[in-house]
Parts: sequence; structure tokens; C-alpha cells
Amino acid sequence: MTEKLTTETGQPWANNEHSQTAGARGPVLMQDYNLLEKLAHFDRERIPERVVHAKGAGAKGFFELENDMGEYTKADLFNGVGKKTPVILRFSQVAGEKGYPDTVRDVRGFALKFYTQQGNYDLVGNNTPVFFVNDPLKFPDFIHSQKRDPKTNRRTQNMQWDFWAHSPESLHQVTYLMGDRGLPASYRTMNGYGSHTFKWVNQNGEQFWVKYHFISDQGVKNMTAQAAEKAMSQDLDYLQDDLYDAIQEKNYPSWTMYVQILPYEEGLNYKWDIFDVTKVISHKDYPLIKVGKLTLNENPTNNFTDIEEAAMSPANFVPGIEPSPDKLLQGRLFSYKDAQRYRLGANFEDLPVNKPVVPVHNYERDGYMKINNQGAEVNYEPNALHGPEEVPDAALSPDSVRGETRAQPYRYQVDYTTQAGDLYRLMSEPEQERLINTIKDALGQVTLPGVKELEIKQFYEADKNYGTRVANALGMNIADIISD
Ligand code: HEM
Repeated sequence: MTEKLTTETGQPWANNEHSQTAGARGPVLMQDYNLLEKLAHFDRERIPERVVHAKGAGAKGFFELENDMGEYTKADLFNGVGKKTPVILRFSQVAGEKGYPDTVRDVRGFALKFYTQQGNYDLVGNNTPVFFVNDPLKFPDFIHSQKRDPKTNRRTQNMQWDFWAHSPESLHQVTYLMGDRGLPASYRTMNGYGSHTFKWVNQNGEQFWVKYHFISDQGVKNMTAQAAEKAMSQDLDYLQDDLYDAIQEKNYPSWTMYVQILPYEEGLNYKWDIFDVTKVISHKDYPLIKVGKLTLNENPTNNFTDIEEAAMSPANFVPGIEPSPDKLLQGRLFSYKDAQRYRLGANFEDLPVNKPVVPVHNYERDGYMKINNQGAEVNYEPNALHGPEEVPDAALSPDSVRGETRAQPYRYQVDYTTQAGDLYRLMSEPEQERLINTIKDALGQVTLPGVKELEIKQFYEADKNYGTRVANALGMNIADIISD
């Protein structure tokens, strides 16, 4: 049955083709409430896009636990083999705006919201296991260098390579980005990583350090620069459309979730600083342990309410999963919800996509667009009215800290070249060749003095062959660069 057209307040709407006018030629009448409402609503349709990761696509699905993790975490979603937890997963590009082409070289976001029986747990990761910077103070500058030039409004190689060349901690991630993984063939064929080290705590209060890996069951597949350009010329939303179509065709993509687990003390003394997000932890030292399977089996019903209004936050933990001291992660704990209050409004957590599957009881009230205002429940504490009580078991586990309070860099096991070199050496010869070509095409456009040399020195430090090949590709002499 066809529904009747109504206004937003439900009154029947008589005519949606013609404005009310004084005579057939106008002018338009003030009394035309339908016209005024329609224009006024249209005028307010756009909300701020995400300050980063603005372009993306998502889907709904579930996570099924295959291996009980109770030994390491009391988190409900990881206890009880066979347990299914509903999820929403949003993939994204980092730098481009909302209408930007999907197949431009970039890191890809992999942001998960698990609707668990202990509230929402979000894991907001990427398709690479490391990141460009390891201090939150540098994040806004890093992002500015990826976005547009303030004067010309162009994206320039000058800006990004200038930042990277002067931020040696970015070398490992730059090597990933310039390599094949910078151009995934589809969202379905890329892995997802939690990237940071997180903390898991079990029922006995024992603490472990954990790294998350979501390995694509479709296999990792990337595209060449030529294929990416072709895809871009045919479909700006290439990756979004591929995901949507696969799910429509019931070709449901899935990922197997693994973790690396480090005992607490061992982790603190590991050969690399496990809280420095520019580093990976060797799979030989801490092998991947299978946890379960993540499957996407439902497209958004409405892209705005399911995906655009989704508010993923690294601060959304559940008991048994906690932050680590990783400085970058600590900065993220603040930034996401702050951005979402601005982007979606103070009560963004009431929006259907962000609402937990468990009831919410607390002493927070009111504000713009509040929906779940907890009715007649008492709104202050302490009280004699049996208002919601604290849950001491949910307290974060303690850590001991010592050291001086001041602005300071990481000091433990600082080395930004070895792991970048390891990644280079892991690549096959054709992969290395493509990496060098990509760097040549990108770094080759840089016109700022000294930037190429500075970056090449870092490639050389990571691996002599890596640095020498980039220098040769750019028609530069490595000996001159190294002797400077
Ligand atoms: C989105 C900040 C580092 C992955 C965002 C947003 C902000 C932000 C403000 C937009 C949130 C929104 O409006 O909903 C930061 C800051 C960082 C940081 C301050 C460092 C201090 C990272 C890292 C990763 C990451 C290390 C991955 C390992 C993502 C993803 C999204 C995102 C995937 C998109 C989430 C979605 O799909 O809704 N970030 N970020 N970010 N960030 Fe970060």
C-alpha cells in the first residue's frame, strides 16, 4: 500500500509539486507552510563531516567467538564459545573529504563497534598494524600535512613529505603506505589491526598486553597504481560499491580475529617498546592466537543513520579490556567523543546506531535532542531513592608508574629504522620494485629544499639497498646524500 504524504508533524500534505502563490505567476505566499518547512529542512541537511576518515562505507554483521579467551580477559564477548555479538564496521580513507575518490593511495580505516552485553566496545583501527606518529600532540600537524594547502587548496607532495622527512617515526608506516597495501583492491580484501597495544584483564585480576589482528578470509589483495586510476575514472565510490554489491549478492565478507598476548611483565621488558605504535611485535615471539570470526551480512538500511551517525571511539571499553599507557591511544581517548559532540551533538550516544543493547542508567540528563532522558529516575547522587549504584568490579586495573612529569619523547628502545627495514626485506623483488616506483612518483614531485635528501637518508638507514634504489630512481647520488 502506498503511504500518504505528510509533513514532519504528521499532517496530510496536499500538494508537493506547486507552491502556493497569489495568482499563477506568483509571488509565493507566506502561508505555504509545506514549502517553508521543506526549504528550512533542506537548508540544514549537512552536518560536519568527520575531521579525518570522512569518506567511508560500512555494514552490519556479527562476531562469533570460536576460542574462549577467559584465561586472558573477563570481557563477556570473548567468553563462551559460540557467542554471537552484533557489530557495525565502517571502513574509510584517512585524508580525503566525503566525496573523495576511494582508490587514492591512503591508509584505510577499520572501525568496529561491538554491541556487547556489557555495553558498546569499539575497536577503531586501520588496515596497517602501525601508525605515522606516536604522540597525540603531533596528530593535528600530521593531518594538516595530508590535507590541502591553505593557500592553493591543493593536496601536495611537498606538505606530506616535509612532515614525514622531519618525523622519522613515520618511516615504518610510510613504507606500508607506499607499498602495495596503500591501494587495497577492496575493503573485503584487506586486514584490520587494532594497531595499539591494549590491556586485557581476567576474572582473577591478571593483566596481559594484547594486539588485535583481523585477517581477511578473502585473502589480501591490492591493486596496481594503474588499476586504481582506472577504477577512479569509472567509479569514485569503487570500494564502497564493491562492499555493498558483495553483501547484496550474499557474498558475505569475513575476517578471522587473532590476538597476540604478552604477559604483563614480559611485555614491559620486551625488546621493543610495546606502547610505541610505530612498532610491531614479532609473530615468532608472540604467535597469533585465533579468537573468532567477524562476518558482515547486512547493508545499511539508511546510510546517514547507520553509518554517518555512527560514533566510534577508542574510549569505549568494556570490563576486561582497558587502555595501555600508549601516548597516542591516550590522546585518542579524548579526541573522538569530543569530535562527535561537535559533529553530531551532545547527545550523540542516543542515536540508534550508537545506542547500546543494554539499558543505560546514570545521572546525566538533558541537552539538545535528548531522547533517552531516563524518565522519572532520580537525577542526583548520593540519594535515598535507590538510584543506580556503582559497579566497583568495573574499575580499571592498577599500573605502577614512575618518572618525571614533563614534555618528553619515548626513551625505551627508540629505533625508527630497523622495523621499516624489516618490512622492506620482507617484500618480494617485484613488491620492492613497485614500492620504489611509487616513492619515485610521489617524492619526486617534492620541490622543498633538503626534503628528498632527508627522507632518502632514512630509507638508507632502514636498508642500504632501499635508500640506494630510491636515490637512483630519483637520479640522485646516494654517496653525496650519505656524506652530508
Ligand atoms: C576517526 C582523531 C589516531 C583510526 C577519527 C576522528 C578523530 C580522530 C577526531 C573523527 C571521529 C568522528 O568524528 O567520529 C585521532 C587522533 C589520533 C588518531 C587525535 C591520534 C592522537 C588514529 C589511529 C588510528 C585511527 C592510530 C588507527 C589505528 C581512525 C578511524 C577513524 C578515525 C578508523 C574513522 C572512524 C569511523 O569510521 O567512524 N580520528 N585519530 N586514528 N580514526 Fe583517528
